Amino acid sequence: MALTVQFHDMYTTPAKTSLCDEILTGFSADRKFVSPKFFYDQRGSELFDQICAQPEYYPTRTEELILADAADDIADIAGEDATLIELGSGASRKVRLLLEAMRPSSYLGIDISREFLLESTRRLAADYPWLEVHAAYADFSCNMALPEGLCCERPVGFFPGSSIGNFDPQAAEDFLRGLHSLLPIGSGLLIGVDLLKDKATLEAAYNDAAGVTAAFNLNLLDRLREELNTEIDPEHFAHQAFFNEAQSCIEMHLVSRLPQVVTIEGERFRFLEGETIHTENSYKYTVEGFQALAERAGFKARAYWTDAKDLFSVHYMERT
Ligand code: AVI
Repeated sequence: MALTVQFHDMYTTPAKTSLCDEILTGFSADRKFVSPKFFYDQRGSELFDQICAQPEYYPTRTEELILADAADDIADIAGEDATLIELGSGASRKVRLLLEAMRPSSYLGIDISREFLLESTRRLAADYPWLEVHAAYADFSCNMALPEGLCCERPVGFFPGSSIGNFDPQAAEDFLRGLHSLLPIGSGLLIGVDLLKDKATLEAAYNDAAGVTAAFNLNLLDRLREELNTEIDPEHFAHQAFFNEAQSCIEMHLVSRLPQVVTIEGERFRFLEGETIHTENSYKYTVEGFQALAERAGFKARAYWTDAKDLFSVHYMERT
């Protein structure tokens, strides 16, 4: 019976560049940009949870339905006594849809948010006393190794949420190549991928009527006000999200409502009316397109599942 969590403190590399350096670089570019990783401060994470519950934002509930329906098939492919390794485990909520069917012998949650990781893996250990629970405080995007002491029988990586879509396709391929090095030969990879679909459904998902996605996007500017020396005014910017058909991605921007000059840490940045800060891309794939990308990174498609409307896909891949 495992009511405790085996904790592995593996976060040795400090953030590569600080928020300040990255913001100044992004604001100095011809087309201003900010990395979407800066969305997720405390307030941003709360807003993201609210986005997942919006009626227009189909990915979360659709993926959950697919996982619940496919749990027995997934268990058959993964086999008994697997070691389930969740990348960016967050609240460890979706994995609960798999645990009873799969009955893995151990679970490893990897996350860069230490307190969140501890809290959610402790809850998991309490709710599933038969499961050996490990937590690694680590950045899995930076070539990490699996923690010592983790039994690595039948490892299965789990990367839900279509977070892979927030990388551009080349970076997604590089990221999967990194997972290929992390996971031993024969490992499985269970990954959620949002599918290409009509423009109206996609654009509605990123422009919810309640304005939660807009608040999430604009919260980035509140974060800059809190953490940097700047008076940037969120009221002077508007949320924008549209589908770029040529690139197959949703682009999110913050649009300047007026000509303005913004000072950050003593550096001045001029905005024309209508000029934007590009804050996120969310790429959408066909099943075949994603399988081809994963294959280039060393993963072979074993099975995939979609919902009745082909909104979202979950893939089981094998590390070759
Ligand atoms: C985390 N990621 C997969 C979300 C997405 O759909 O690209 C982030 C998001 N941005 C706006 N809404 C949701």
